[in-house]
Amino acid sequence: MEEAHGDSSKFVDWEQRWSREARRKQMPTLQSIVSKYQGAPGIIGMHGGLPPADAFPFSAFKCSLQSSSNDAAAAAAAAAAGSLSISDPPLVSAAQQYNMHAKGYPPLQSWARDIVCELHQPATLKPHPQNSSSSSNNTGTAQQQQQQQQLIGLDVAITPGASAALDAIARVLLNPGDAVLLEEFTYNHHAEAHLLPMGCELLPVPMDSAGLLPAALDAMLTQRSSAGLALPRLLYCIPTGQNPTGAVMGPERMRQVYELARKWDLIILEDDAYFWLQYPQGPEAVPGLNLRPGFLSIDVDGRVIRVDTLAKLLGPGFRLGWVAGPPALVNKVALYIAAISVGASSLSQVMIHQLLLQWGRPGLEAYVVQLQQRYARSAAAAEAAAAAHLADIAEWQPIRAGMFMWVKIKAGEGVDASPLMELGAAEKVMVVTGNLSSVAHLQATAHAQQQQAQDQQQQPEQQGSHMQQQQQQQLDKAAGPCPYFRVSFASVASDADLQEGFARLRRAVLRCQALAANGAAQ
Ligand SMILES: Cc1ncc(COP(=O)(O)O)c(C=O)c1O
Repeated sequence: MEEAHGDSSKFVDWEQRWSREARRKQMPTLQSIVSKYQGAPGIIGMHGGLPPADAFPFSAFKCSLQSSSNDAAAAAAAAAAGSLSISDPPLVSAAQQYNMHAKGYPPLQSWARDIVCELHQPATLKPHPQNSSSSSNNTGTAQQQQQQQQLIGLDVAITPGASAALDAIARVLLNPGDAVLLEEFTYNHHAEAHLLPMGCELLPVPMDSAGLLPAALDAMLTQRSSAGLALPRLLYCIPTGQNPTGAVMGPERMRQVYELARKWDLIILEDDAYFWLQYPQGPEAVPGLNLRPGFLSIDVDGRVIRVDTLAKLLGPGFRLGWVAGPPALVNKVALYIAAISVGASSLSQVMIHQLLLQWGRPGLEAYVVQLQQRYARSAAAAEAAAAAHLADIAEWQPIRAGMFMWVKIKAGEGVDASPLMELGAAEKVMVVTGNLSSVAHLQATAHAQQQQAQDQQQQPEQQGSHMQQQQQQQLDKAAGPCPYFRVSFASVASDADLQEGFARLRRAVLRCQALAANGAAQ
């Protein structure tokens, strides 16, 4: 494999990457004029359609902060904050006004950029070793270095959560029919709500508890290339506390995957929704802000786009997150989001920025630590409950990040967990079965639906529901039985509820195994 540094021919040329739709998208002229001159000193603004600030209903915002931690130090930090008050008129007005900047409320955007730079140390901001080690009397090299730094760099744009960012990235990089690589089990919303409706072909990459398997990824692409099939241009992955498997990609695996992205010229879409929820050593030794960085830290070509969300850190209701990556791509994504929603909520942006300011670094760190401890404790309680009730009939990996436990039903090959949602509901316990996030199953279902629609158009009289069912069963069979299910342990109210939940799950899993045994006997 090639070295990560030293091959400038691999820098991404974004003009070659846009989808047909993205090529046509420009910032609307009026919007760019309004944002440029809004608030400029001395200008009497008679150009934008903005409501006057004194017409807004609120003159101040006051919120009480909750102290939710068991940990004494974190509780003290949270209690010291007590309440958040926003009464400065320009802030109160900004919170109720249109979001003026395509990349978000500038103070929050700059906070997000700083935290990305600090926690991930993006390689695209560092001088390229090839150039920096060249002799200083070579002025050509100095010029090249300057050009190269301008070429890559890093930008950040605030988004209305991660989902909007994922949709926008897909739309600016993919055309209908394009193939996309994903972990074999994935965040089903991105697959079902964005990629499949766009007509993309989903290619599942085998994974283990450390994420994507590099050898399998390389083999898939080699095979596709020798078969003369179009190669995918995008790899979507969730490197921390993966949804649904909880997998955590370590630095070495990340480096191997990155090298393959260079070899096959892939863009990596890193969706790090569970980044803040890392607790590799359990509740007693959580990392706080000393977090394992993502792909940006090794991205020397500018081929990584990182998506963060505040949903799992501060709350999904704020609908806030950001994208970070090469400026050309971040600008295009921001443009797309501005076109759909005029950006993230101004109220959320102002409020969260004020909270972060008030907390400062120690407050943020204390908050993150108590969150990690809380999740680590729930994870340990879930593992204890699983050990008590499922040890003989299921297996799972230790939980080191995020909010999910990924459980495999033991029963030889061929057991299918799919009936577990209904069997669980009958026992009054709900989990999510693996087939719902299996890329092979999602792709098979999408194919079946497409086929059905085509057949109905061609031969409506022959399409009985019996035939459709048969077709679906065949496709499900082709995708294979899925023995996994996902337990979301974090929001279960108490350890006692976790114990009771797993006791109920045991009864449902036993019935599932019995169904599989009956099926095999027939
Ligand atoms: C992997 C992943 N990405 C993104 C999201 C959604 O984030 P947001 O609420 O910011 O849209 C989720 C939520 O469950 C998720 O699991």
